[in-house]
Amino acid sequence: MLKGKTIVLGVTGGIAAYKAVYLISALKKQNANVHVIMTEHAAEFITPLTFETRSGNRCIVDMFEKHFEYDVKHISLAKAADLMIIAPATANFIAKAANGIADDMLTTVFLAAKCPKLVAPAMNTAMYENPATQANLERLADYGIKIIEPDSGLLACGDEGKGKMPEHDVLLEHILDTIAFKKDMNGLKVLVTAGPTQEAIDPVRYITNHSSGKMGYALARVCRMRGAEVILVSGRTSLDAPFGVKRVDVVSSQDMHDAVLEYAPSVDMIFKAAAVADYTPLEVADHKIKKQDGDMSILLKRTSDILADVAKIRRPDQVICGFAMETENLIENSRSKLKRKSLDMICANSLRTEGAGFQVDTNVVTLITADDMIELGILSKAETAYRIVDKALELRSGKLVKA
Ligand code: CTP
Repeated sequence: MLKGKTIVLGVTGGIAAYKAVYLISALKKQNANVHVIMTEHAAEFITPLTFETRSGNRCIVDMFEKHFEYDVKHISLAKAADLMIIAPATANFIAKAANGIADDMLTTVFLAAKCPKLVAPAMNTAMYENPATQANLERLADYGIKIIEPDSGLLACGDEGKGKMPEHDVLLEHILDTIAFKKDMNGLKVLVTAGPTQEAIDPVRYITNHSSGKMGYALARVCRMRGAEVILVSGRTSLDAPFGVKRVDVVSSQDMHDAVLEYAPSVDMIFKAAAVADYTPLEVADHKIKKQDGDMSILLKRTSDILADVAKIRRPDQVICGFAMETENLIENSRSKLKRKSLDMICANSLRTEGAGFQVDTNVVTLITADDMIELGILSKAETAYRIVDKALELRSGKLVKA
């Protein structure tokens, strides 16, 4: 997601400096070009060679080093950066940056850079909570610099409290959120449903399906990264809520129905990726059902169709997108769902296609609208989500033109 982007990573002198190595690996996996600038104190904790080996680029420590790659290095690096992140950022760096001091390579590039800048403070709790540090952080935030809040826990000095640098995956999410995609969903509100529903039989057992929630979570994440405000109504999954997304946890199809109908009126787009139970036990036993001789049967009743109920209250400008998972007659069945449920688009995927379906990280989706059919082919669920959103945005602008 960061192909062609240049990230300048500033590392200052704290014990969390070693964690920056993991961040470089994570950034490289996203195909970013990473340049590291260290302060002299950071080089006491970890060597520049470690960063050079990981990043594949020279690590700069001192302003006056001899081996110049650029004519005026601090200016060219500042210009080349699509994003600058300081992780870890010591109280000393924060104080200097807040006051525009540029007395080494890192503070100089930081001052010269016009790209988005992130700062991840990491220090002892007392230093972090000190009013001087807090005032400096506020000042940086006022300048438009994003402060990544430190975690709480056991610190290297033995104290317990706030001041730990978040793990590299959290830092990466902040970076992706800032620059991965153009913000073409700014100002839009989106509702995504994901995961399976669970229909209780008794206090111990339930009926469910194989949905992992991955497709819906990928959609929620992409919408957020493209600038939308996202509400994710999720059945039980093992996935973490995507960064910056409001997750509403539900269990049964009735819970999902209630949550969706509560949020639907306020959103611009709805993506219904959840695998909702069509039937639920007629009665839920209060106590665990004991086994008996012979067969047993459980009487099921129909659940309410959430999409159909949403369609009844929809605004004409809303884009509503459903999903169809089929094992036969994929296109025909999906087209009929598109009509029956009054959808703008249906994302059809067959459980029989290799690379599609539950649990896996890829999908093979065909986007069907009233007058279009696009086969996306095998893509990661993240890329599939991106393409689904592209089409939904196109449908939305079509509606706005007509209105
Ligand atoms: N859906 C829903 N409410 C339900 C069942 C399904 O909103 N009670 C939504 C799903 O989230 C999905 C779409 O409807 O976006 C299609 O789901 P699917 O189970 O494939 O469709 P059904 O209408 O249940 O059709 P069938 O059982 O005939 O396959």
